Amino acid sequence: MLGEKELRFFGRRKGKTIKTSKQQLIDELLPKLRPDFSQKEKVDFKTFFSNPMKEYWLEIGFGGGEHVAELSLKYQDVGFFAAEPFINGVASLLAHLNGSHEGKTTHTNLAPERSDNVRIWDDDVREVFPFFEDGIFKKIFLLYPDPWPKARHAERRFTNKINQQHLYRLLDDEGCFYVATDVQAYAEWTLEQVEELSLFEQVNEDISLPPQDWVPTRYEKKGIAAGRKPIYLVFQKKKLK
Ligand SMILES: C[S@@+](CC[C@H](N)C(=O)[O-])C[C@H]1O[C@@H](n2cnc3c(N)ncnc32)[C@H](O)[C@@H]1O
Repeated sequence: MLGEKELRFFGRRKGKTIKTSKQQLIDELLPKLRPDFSQKEKVDFKTFFSNPMKEYWLEIGFGGGEHVAELSLKYQDVGFFAAEPFINGVASLLAHLNGSHEGKTTHTNLAPERSDNVRIWDDDVREVFPFFEDGIFKKIFLLYPDPWPKARHAERRFTNKINQQHLYRLLDDEGCFYVATDVQAYAEWTLEQVEELSLFEQVNEDISLPPQDWVPTRYEKKGIAAGRKPIYLVFQKKKLK
């Protein structure tokens, strides 16, 4: 289990005032999609879905939720676990799932074209790592993590060695961990940490090319428009002897 100190969350939890319609989604739709970890013991994540899913994918820090919203619509046989403590971002993902992102709806259910394949954790993902079984996720996405540029804050970077050990356990043996960043120093630091710990191997040849099937987030698009260059790192689990 992670210690108290390691679990301090340093990001923002709240931004602009949330509109009434989005607040209604937080009050009515979110409770249906938030898994119950209150027993504080290992859960069978598969049972949180009414249909059996082919695979399970995790997205850490989904921001406005456009990446998980698009993938979950495309892959309706995949079960998604998406975590984000910033409540305005959670509201935005709920609006995507409800079909009201571009306009109004009068209900608080999932949009009719969607299957019920997304589960949302509106808090720090590290809190719930211990409750998942080994090897549950086939893909783990960490897109544009907070860079924490100051050297004295380096350990807050999500790709630190403690988190790598959790992700290693949660990832299927054939699974991949995807990181995107447009901060060169973050990519370099991550590669260093990965090499030192030696649990993962970076497997994509050209780090300037998005992996197949890539959905750019709003953050990525803004970065590109501002002249920043995305770096994509794909890590595979090493087979330990
Ligand atoms: C720079 S934003 C990028 C958001 C999104 N991935 C994108 O590309 O647009 C980083 C996000 O990670 C979230 N985050 C940071 N630490 C987290 C944690 N421990 N668990 C879940 N989300 C986290 C932050 O709240 C923030 O929304």
